[in-house]
Amino acid sequence: MMPSPRRRTEPSASAGLANLVGRVHECDCFELLARLPDGCCELIYVDPPFGTGKTFRGHAASGIGFADRLAGGRAAQIAFLLPRLIEMRRVLRECGSLYVHLDYRLAPYIRVELDLIFGQRNFLNEIIWSYRTGSRPGCHFARKHDTILFYARQAGRHVFNLQREGEYRTEGLQRDAEGRAYKTTRRGRLYFHGEGPVVPDVWDIPFLSTVSKERVGYPSQKPLRLLDRIVRASSSPGGLVADFFCGSGTTLVAAQQQGRRWLGCDSNPQAVRISRHRLVQCPHEPRPSEPRP
Ligand SMILES: C[S@@+](CC[C@H](N)C(=O)[O-])C[C@H]1O[C@@H](n2cnc3c(N)ncnc32)[C@H](O)[C@@H]1O
Repeated sequence: MMPSPRRRTEPSASAGLANLVGRVHECDCFELLARLPDGCCELIYVDPPFGTGKTFRGHAASGIGFADRLAGGRAAQIAFLLPRLIEMRRVLRECGSLYVHLDYRLAPYIRVELDLIFGQRNFLNEIIWSYRTGSRPGCHFARKHDTILFYARQAGRHVFNLQREGEYRTEGLQRDAEGRAYKTTRRGRLYFHGEGPVVPDVWDIPFLSTVSKERVGYPSQKPLRLLDRIVRASSSPGGLVADFFCGSGTTLVAAQQQGRRWLGCDSNPQAVRISRHRLVQCPHEPRPSEPRP
């Protein structure tokens, strides 16, 4: 049965919040959400179990892993996520955003639910994280992307720092005396932005290979590059970033590296231990209120 969240939005809530920030909590995220006051988070990213029916394991000998299996199948998975997503909206600031990382199993259903919870006008992107890993499906194309649903608490008021990456296609274009490519338009020369094109909603970021140095031994660990992009785009220095299914702590590491405040939780003690260890090891950018050495 669903635990009923205790709301604490009275004045003492901000004192309570200070005790929760900068920590990885071992609990069901519903419990942590219930302890948070309204409107405290600038960015929430969640990567909940996808309802694969599998048990995910880390390094063979470690015994580390988690079961992605909820009795009741897809309907149960949706029923599990719904109240938690409603709580996530409650704890978002007016300028805040939510990213929900899913795959083809749940994404279409949760998109409909999130449209109802947030309002369709606050839907911003369906981000496709495209990757290549080995597989040999017999009778359909290889499934090589995840879907990240991106919503604003209030579109237009949300924090968004445009991200640029990569190279423009400049073959065949004219070049000036300094070798810079440009297009000729009626209004004169049009130069390309020095930092590259705007990042689109399809992200080609490699999956962490089994031998990647970034791996910390927790299954389903997401690449830091993916979370780094989300943290940079949708939070400001000193803003509070939360991950309520934090696994190995990738979001929290990205937040710490970028000088954001953070909090996270996971119901699996092994995940909590790994995240805490990772965060202690990880350098952090001084936040705006901290004096620079
Ligand atoms: C896909 S993993 C997250 C991986 C993470 N993004 C990373 O980069 O390591 C999902 C996590 O959700 C956790 N989890 C499952 N149910 C939960 C719940 N009710 N509350 C909090 N965490 C939960 C699992 O233990 C698992 O670590």
